[in-house]
Amino acid sequence: MIFDHREVEMEWVKGGKVCVTGAAGFLASWLVKRLLLSGYHVIGTVRDPANEKKLAHLWRLDGAKERLKLVRADLLEEGSFDDAIMGCQGVFHTASPVIKPSFDPKAYVLLFLT
Ligand SMILES: NC(=O)c1ccc[n+]([C@@H]2O[C@H](COP(=O)([O-])OP(=O)(O)OC[C@H]3O[C@@H](n4cnc5c(N)ncnc54)[C@H](OP(=O)(O)O)[C@@H]3O)[C@@H](O)[C@H]2O)c1
Repeated sequence: MIFDHREVEMEWVKGGKVCVTGAAGFLASWLVKRLLLSGYHVIGTVRDPANEKKLAHLWRLDGAKERLKLVRADLLEEGSFDDAIMGCQGVFHTASPVIKPSFDPKAYVLLFLT
């Protein structure tokens, strides 16, 4: 089968639906912006869709009011993303928990001295 990527791209640009997880994050925000500019309908997942301050930059993007939907999903809850990705042509999975290691400078000093 011959695969013509231009045809596929054309099809997708005609308002296809994609999901971006962790939509308010650094990488995801750029993705959402780019996808909206390309004409996609974007389902963005966030943990708190009511957090206006954290999401304001997304709502200011061109096309956001018409084609962006923010829904709640949490990686720590099984099945949480099911509805968000249902019917999407693609999923950009950027949501990731930031695990901050407990940093004890004294422990490091002792480690190097011993
Ligand atoms: N930034 C870079 O230069 C870079 C380079 C290479 C790879 N990466 C990787 O790309 C990924 C995203 O990076 P980033 O810089 O965009 O990180 P980020 O700004 O911290 O975004 C991560 C997003 O993950 C969401 N999140 C955290 N815990 C969650 C949970 N339990 N359930 C659902 N969502 C959760 C947060 O959403 P909320 O809004 O709900 O808090 C946050 O917006 C990471 O895996 C990172 O290691 C980043």
